[in-house]
Amino acid sequence: MAIFIDSSDPKEIKDLFAWGVLSGVTTNPLIISKERPGADLAEVIREVLAVSWGDVSVELTTETEKEMLAEADQYHAWDPQRITIKVPMSETGLRVLHQLAKKGVKTNVTCLMSMNQAYLAALAGATYVSIFSGRVRDMGYDVKPIIAATRAVLDREGLASKIIVGSMRHMMDVNEALEAGAHVPTITPPILRKMVWNPRTIETINEFNTAWKNRGKK
Ligand code: E4P
Repeated sequence: MAIFIDSSDPKEIKDLFAWGVLSGVTTNPLIISKERPGADLAEVIREVLAVSWGDVSVELTTETEKEMLAEADQYHAWDPQRITIKVPMSETGLRVLHQLAKKGVKTNVTCLMSMNQAYLAALAGATYVSIFSGRVRDMGYDVKPIIAATRAVLDREGLASKIIVGSMRHMMDVNEALEAGAHVPTITPPILRKMVWNPRTIETINEFNTAWKNRGKK
């Protein structure tokens, strides 16, 4: 079991890794465009690597097999042990994935909305298969059966791919992904912070600390 952080913000990543609960980072072109507009990708990823540990997913943005393989080589060289190439699902994506997997490059097949897609990615050698919870629900489907069916088929076939569930919109999405069999929820900083917080916890701590401050007083 592991939790990844879905962010490219080095300040947040550093802060949240200090909790000791995280073991990797996922980024995508949309997150980086929003959080670091105009920044150089190599610089963003260098900063992310410096303040984290474990796998760091970087997504391919080109669309032909040749370009995607060249892009993957470039990202992989930044840290061959930790950089995980995020490959968008498509027929070209599967060809690229399979070639990267044969070279021993870590991969994360992304933008998955169904078990069929995740199964194909796992068969082609993906290190991770990323199911997009919020985007599946946006289409009006329940994501839990998709996660559970994917986990069941990976376990039954002895496939090594780990299921990442991303596109989290609420804290309950994290709980449901874990219950359904996700190996790794990837969580945004605001949702991760909400997981710590509970009003009854705050109230109880305040009650204890007030009692301690007032001990011995009448
Ligand atoms: C996962 O790896 C993706 O980066 C991410 O969770 C996508 O989520 P979105 O639906 O909020 O774009």
